[in-house]
Amino acid sequence: MSTQDETTHLEGAGVPAAVIVLAAGAGTRMKSRTPKILHRIGGISMIGHALRAARAIGPRELAVVVRHERDRVAEHVGSMDPEAVLIDQDELPGTGRAVQVALEGLDARSGSPLSGTVVVTYGDVPLLTTQTLQELVAVHHREANAVSVLTAVLEDPTGYGRIQRHEDGTVLAIVEHKDASPEQRAIREVNSGIYAFDADVLRRALTLVDASNAQGEMYLTDVLAIARADGGRVAAVVQEDRWQVEGANDRVQLAALGAELNRRVVEQWMLAGVTVLDPSTTWIDSTVVLEEDVTILPGTQLHGETAVARDAVVGPDTTLTDVVIGEGAHVVRTHGSGARIGAGASVGPFTYLRPGTVLGEDGKIGAFYETKNVTIGRGSKLSHLGYAGDAEIGEYTNIGCGNITANYDGVNKHRTVIGSHVRTSSNTVFVAPVSMGDGAYTGAGAVVRADVPAGALAVTVAAQRNIPDWVAAKRPGTASATAAGAAADAPSPGPPTSTPTEEKSTQA
Ligand code: UD1
Ligand code: CA
Repeated sequence: MSTQDETTHLEGAGVPAAVIVLAAGAGTRMKSRTPKILHRIGGISMIGHALRAARAIGPRELAVVVRHERDRVAEHVGSMDPEAVLIDQDELPGTGRAVQVALEGLDARSGSPLSGTVVVTYGDVPLLTTQTLQELVAVHHREANAVSVLTAVLEDPTGYGRIQRHEDGTVLAIVEHKDASPEQRAIREVNSGIYAFDADVLRRALTLVDASNAQGEMYLTDVLAIARADGGRVAAVVQEDRWQVEGANDRVQLAALGAELNRRVVEQWMLAGVTVLDPSTTWIDSTVVLEEDVTILPGTQLHGETAVARDAVVGPDTTLTDVVIGEGAHVVRTHGSGARIGAGASVGPFTYLRPGTVLGEDGKIGAFYETKNVTIGRGSKLSHLGYAGDAEIGEYTNIGCGNITANYDGVNKHRTVIGSHVRTSSNTVFVAPVSMGDGAYTGAGAVVRADVPAGALAVTVAAQRNIPDWVAAKRPGTASATAAGAAADAPSPGPPTSTPTEEKSTQA
């Protein structure tokens, strides 16, 4: 989508003077200590989605009206859109009052009354797109309307404000559900709460809005009839895609909107060239970036700033947050965050990548591995069972099965530095701080407490001692003793044979 082009295109008719996002309501039906609009879908808060859509139409000012949980909401808005202007609503309730204080605040900021188009949206309508707002503004300008309202035709319009139309199609008024007659309640076209207003009409009409209605609130909706009575043209723009005007009032609606948003995001990636085997079990945040010919296998969730390069395969059953995956890499049954996986590398299955994990090109972090703050060079492999933390590993090194960096002494963390072309044997423990030079080896079970020079073999285990016939003496009558006795009577099987392994891996 080329937001920039469309913004430029609008310039002819004048970009909106302001977008006002209403976000002062309490959202009690959420039953949450978290303000409603901070609840997330697709990896972004509801207000975050609203701010993104609003910002992208290029308004000169973007205002957010706050009141409930003011400080938490304000902090979050600041983190999402630092340029947004926060407006505090006073104790007078209603959408009309919310817009009135916003307009007063914006007028005061600019030193003179705003003129042009003012768009009003809600902080809890997360699927509304920039394109829909642009279309609303375009119609508003083309028809030279005083007010243009986005509407939807619903099977069940209960609770919504109803659109009363004149026979010429223009809008007479909006009647709130609680104030509507049975006849008016039969109208199925509803107010979405998203509008484009002429600033001067809006400012004047709001001075005439009172709270003499069923809810004792200043209704923004009253502006429409007032504007019309003043001789302004009031039009409705019907939105066919009802998801775009749907708000989330409780967690059931939140989940439904989240699932629909995800469906749209996954579909958009498929159309952009990503193979998704099972869209219904694939969750992709709005912030994730995928390249062509990526394959996502079932049960995968991609969150945050995750980015996947072409030909990579992710999943099944993989959850990644802020993980960057290089071209052609494979990430199988992995839980990861804050990691970078090089091109052609492989991770999993059953792997836990923690922040600061950097795996080089063609490297491998295999089954049952946990990694944290570790840089692994090109072609190096940590294939099976272990922990690598606070470590640096060179290129083409092979870390044996069950290796562990003992990085924590109970008080401080220490680093392990391992060179290139190193071969460590099974169950090596690196007692950090410690280092191994290039081309060095360790023996099985080595506990590396002192630095190992390049090319050396580190062996730390005491020589093995066998005590003959210990089982017969100490465990007489057991199955082991019987088996040992039978083995002693049998002819010797001869020395075990070994199969040569390929150079590329010391682990089978
Ligand atoms: C409002 C509309 C209704 C429309 C519906 C669509 C009015 C009078 N009614 O009804 O026609 O069909 O939205 O969802 O406008 N808010 C504030 N300050 C307030 C009151 C509300 O900022 O004092 C914000 C809320 O946080 C919310 C939005 O405005 O984001 C709508 O408020 P809400 O109380 O949900 O309005 P409805 O009664 O649903
Ligand atoms: Ca509502």
